[in-house]
Amino acid sequence: SDKCWRECMDVAVEVACRAGKVVQEAVKHEKSVSTKSTPTDLVTEADQQVEELIISTLRDKFPSHRFIGEESSAAGEKCILTDNPSWIIDPIDGTCNFVHSFPMVAVSIGFAVKKELEFGVIYHCFDGTLYTARKGHGAFCNGVRIQVSKEKELYSQRLLDVSKALILTEIGAKRDPATLNIFSGNIMKLLSAPTHGVRIIGSSTLALCLIATGAAEAYYQYGLHCWDIAAAAVIIREAGGIVIDTSGGPLDLMSRRVVAAGTHEMANYIVQQLQPISYERDDSD
Ligand code: IPD
Repeated sequence: SDKCWRECMDVAVEVACRAGKVVQEAVKHEKSVSTKSTPTDLVTEADQQVEELIISTLRDKFPSHRFIGEESSAAGEKCILTDNPSWIIDPIDGTCNFVHSFPMVAVSIGFAVKKELEFGVIYHCFDGTLYTARKGHGAFCNGVRIQVSKEKELYSQRLLDVSKALILTEIGAKRDPATLNIFSGNIMKLLSAPTHGVRIIGSSTLALCLIATGAAEAYYQYGLHCWDIAAAAVIIREAGGIVIDTSGGPLDLMSRRVVAAGTHEMANYIVQQLQPISYERDDSD
């Protein structure tokens, strides 16, 4: 099966790059935008077309596999992870960025077997960067090995010094005042720790890739989806990092919550700072 998953991954790379080029081309044209769960939860015709391109290509090659896709789920398909080989797909992560031609947009393809993530492929549609990782085989950016940040300067006498950490987060679709209060409270807490800074780039998957390359020390978010985490979780873990639930427990792909970091110490620190924001699970009906 190891050989089989490797073959699946080769197909994933090929289709992610192909889909990414379609997105890159679509950026130049008029976009037809609609909304999903909230006025800030956007979808375009391109999201649907690219998901269809990815799923039909994969289904053709692997007819017995299961597929979880952002737009298929929006269209009412159940988002439930079984033991079967399952593809977890975000055709355009950063749809709002895509709509604005803000250059942080990615195609994300994750693959799980027996509910365990086996590999992840993320293609940055604007600069063509390809992030890949397979369980037990390391993480790569354009074929070059990547590693999370384990900066010595973040530790003095083995105690974590967060003052030099750069932290990433994303906003999520809920924008009611109570949610925004907690959201900004969390950012204020991290800024006043103090830390070097907090960044929001508008794409969960690319932000998570920046944890994998060591460009930032930690990421947290409430309200993302399984297709935002699946591929990136493998990439971060294979780059030597930690991906857990905001409670500090193991990652739950469907919980819509994540903390990722270069080290356990950094991840646990973030866990302790956060006030939770509740979102309905991906697998609730
Ligand atoms: C969203 C983006 C956004 C994040 C959301 C994601 P989409 O993905 O990554 O930055 O805040 O949680 O769902 O909808 O553009 O694929």
